[in-house]
Amino acid sequence: GLKKKEVHVLCLGLDNSGKTTIINKLKPSNAQTQDIVPTIGFSIEKFKTSSLSFTVFDMSGQGRYRNLWEHYYKEGQAIIFVIDSSDKLRMVVAKEELDTLLNHPDIKHRRLPILFFANKMDLRDAISSVKVSQLLSLENIKDKPWHICASDALKGEGLQDGVDWLQDQIT
Ligand code: GTP
Ligand code: MG
Repeated sequence: GLKKKEVHVLCLGLDNSGKTTIINKLKPSNAQTQDIVPTIGFSIEKFKTSSLSFTVFDMSGQGRYRNLWEHYYKEGQAIIFVIDSSDKLRMVVAKEELDTLLNHPDIKHRRLPILFFANKMDLRDAISSVKVSQLLSLENIKDKPWHICASDALKGEGLQDGVDWLQDQIT
């Protein structure tokens, strides 16, 4: 058959936000792993959609590894940024990391699509995706297409919506 277009995606966000769980859920069920552990450094993962073949740099969100992120910015053609919607205490840290990302010279002037997952929407103290986008001031992102989806990565809810949007941006 036709070879799918290859796209490099960076998966970023704080530790424990659910990045690895999301990427795992996007793989075919026979390729999914059962036990997900905190990522050390980063891990390269692959999944496919109807028209694209994604290579994902699933970065660790732990503070001590966040300085690795920028080394992959040049490689990235799109960004998936994951937020734990129930982690109100660290929403400000997530915003700081996002602002640093958006101001980085390898990101700033590029029209990279950014998909946000307001993840863990199943938890009782999760805030809405609208509230997440307000707290992160997403309306200030004017030079890049962006989209936010509420998600529950354990059940896989909201993920397809997001990935469909990303695919539309790239193809
Ligand atoms: P680092 O690799 O350390 O940066 O973390 P990560 O962002 O990759 O998070 P990971 O996927 O390892 O998930 C962290 C924890 O959150 C795990 O215990 C997951 O099972 C849990 N988790 C992920 N997504 C959800 C979700 O949508 N809802 C709930 N309730 N738990 C989730
Ligand atoms: Mg991880």
